[in-house]
Amino acid sequence: MEKRTTNIAILGGGPAGYVAAIRAAQLGAEVILIEEKALGGVCLNVGCIPTKALLATASLLSNISSAKEHGITCELKSIDWSVAAARKDRVVRSQGLGLEQLLNAKNITIIKGRGRVVSAHEIIAETTEGEVSIHCRKMILATGSSPKILPIPGAELALTSDDILALTELPSSLAIIGAGVIGLEFATIFSAAGVKVTLIELEDRLLSDEDEGAARELLKLLKRQGIAFKLGAEVLRIEQQGDALTISYRSGNREQTVAAQKMLMAAGRKLNSDIFAALPLAIEGGAIVVNDRMETSVPDVYAAGDVIGGKLLAHLAFAEGKTAAENALGRERSLNYNAVPSCIYTNPEYATAGLTEDQAIEQGINPRVGTFSFRHNGRALTLGEREGFVKVIADENGIIIGAHILGPEASEMISEMTLAVTLGAKAEVLADMIHPHPALNEALWEACSAIAGQAIHQI
Ligand code: NAI
Repeated sequence: MEKRTTNIAILGGGPAGYVAAIRAAQLGAEVILIEEKALGGVCLNVGCIPTKALLATASLLSNISSAKEHGITCELKSIDWSVAAARKDRVVRSQGLGLEQLLNAKNITIIKGRGRVVSAHEIIAETTEGEVSIHCRKMILATGSSPKILPIPGAELALTSDDILALTELPSSLAIIGAGVIGLEFATIFSAAGVKVTLIELEDRLLSDEDEGAARELLKLLKRQGIAFKLGAEVLRIEQQGDALTISYRSGNREQTVAAQKMLMAAGRKLNSDIFAALPLAIEGGAIVVNDRMETSVPDVYAAGDVIGGKLLAHLAFAEGKTAAENALGRERSLNYNAVPSCIYTNPEYATAGLTEDQAIEQGINPRVGTFSFRHNGRALTLGEREGFVKVIADENGIIIGAHILGPEASEMISEMTLAVTLGAKAEVLADMIHPHPALNEALWEACSAIAGQAIHQI
């Protein structure tokens, strides 16, 4: 068996693993990165990037339908989904090549193959040319997560989020189990393309960890786009009936059905933490337990990204991978989870950072809250995007501790609030900060001004 030695071995080349590799290399370490599939992980290959490429298609379709109000006559004749899918694949390929070049430029050794952890200091990779034993001083586990399949009869008839991205033809109708982040984003894509979409959700509201008012408003806006919701509905089984699938669910005491041509299972993800039997790792609820330095319970073994649980977000995985690499190389770094932004790319988008109002109250804070509606924001009106609002939450001293944005470009605007929460900025500082006019983020300025008692454009 071929033998290699290295300073740092990283298992998994997704956002946590590849960022850990680059940071370790920047710090002068010799790094081996082991990845069995394409570099970039779920995010680049079957997650963030391909879905956003298809959302760009969806956004174009929405623009076509609103062209009339601008006096523009255009007609949507047909959609060739194979072309949209090929475009999405090109975007993924181009970013994948860029990532490979980046890792090569940093002299990171990439081993393509399935890694098996043998001890805290050895991984064996099964490659097409045989097994390679990699001895390392420190190891970072970044094996990510996979779609969760519910244990219900007929589950094999459902598509996973990986499968649905590979469709080259639009179905006439789509049922989605789970109105979480993945379910809502695919509902947005397919509904914009004219597919009849029904979301079936166990909880009786959307996004139960998020602000209730914002979730209610988002539900209203998505329904207005023609997306159907079955809330408080537990899926019991899926059956093939001719060309269609029948999904039976229980709502209250009644059993009901939805028929759809295709069906997506988006009821959460399974963490890939069950492959480390050789290590006495502490694992809770499927997640590898780490401290704020990304150290596991086994000395010299670090973990980062989805496999450590919490919020499964690529940008959080970047930060965790970086923290793991720095600590593995003797730095003293801990990760601050207080200001993690999170974005849902619906239409309109929903983005948050820090605490919700309810979470602040649960922590014993008496929050000061400022809101502002996009219907009073000039830029939003010019764009024809008057729906949604922002909400900023400050503590008793006016220090910003959280924010939510439901509206156009929310995923871009949330960074101002992430910065405010990170720095512990006071709402009055943002109220005094000059924002460009007209701009969407004036809504944040107005909400901060409301907290500081100086709102200008609010009655
Ligand atoms: P999720 O946890 O966000 O949502 C799953 C939903 O399925 C929940 O609302 C749950 O109540 C529902 N559910 C569970 N069992 C059910 C059943 N038997 N019948 C009906 N409904 C059921 O998980 P999701 O959407 O699969 O996403 C996984 C992770 O990926 C999330 O942590 C998310 O943050 C991350 N992600 C992030 C994205 C982003 O940042 N834009 C995009 C996509 C995923």
